[in-house]
Amino acid sequence: MIEFISSNRHKFVEIKTRMDECNLGITWVRMKYEEIQADTTEEISLDSAKKLSSFRGKPFFLEDTGLYITSLNGFPGPYSSYVSKKLGNQLVLKLLDDERSAVFLTVLTYWDGRSFFQFSGKLEGEISLVERGKNGFGYDPIFIPKGKDLTLAEMTVEEKNEISHRSRALNKFIEFLRTNGMP
Ligand code: IMP
Repeated sequence: MIEFISSNRHKFVEIKTRMDECNLGITWVRMKYEEIQADTTEEISLDSAKKLSSFRGKPFFLEDTGLYITSLNGFPGPYSSYVSKKLGNQLVLKLLDDERSAVFLTVLTYWDGRSFFQFSGKLEGEISLVERGKNGFGYDPIFIPKGKDLTLAEMTVEEKNEISHRSRALNKFIEFLRTNGMP
């Protein structure tokens, strides 16, 4: 069983659903950890993994995700968690005019007990005019993936997993595990 460290139940459910489909076992280590404020999602993800590896005995993975809004020069990006808490979706909507494109980026970091490996996944789309949908979490009610009419919060976990930033990063990681073996 490989450990996934996160305090976020929604992330765990999305990841477990995909891992189950691939017959890969996963254990949820429900744990909150401090994240640094840095310029990139990659740095935040790697820094968290490095800190946790210093006292975790077994291989694990974690992930960090950011929402990059084009008209805001990529903001909130690595500040996504802070902005979500401070502003929330309603105030984010107020910041935007006609240009509404955005990208989700997930960077998953795996520690195999010796080395760190990173896998990233992106989802392009646009910010909706109003919040829609009750599923998911965070920015899901205001994000419409490219080529879709529904927000991520109007999709089931399986539908979100078919296209999401998180599942794209996870699929690369699963490929890595298939090639290199489970820990
Ligand atoms: P973190 O990866 O937990 O630091 O997430 C940063 C911010 O983005 C938090 O406010 C999350 O709620 C939000 N977030 C992370 N992943 C997703 C997602 O898949 N959909 C919508 N919001 C997300």
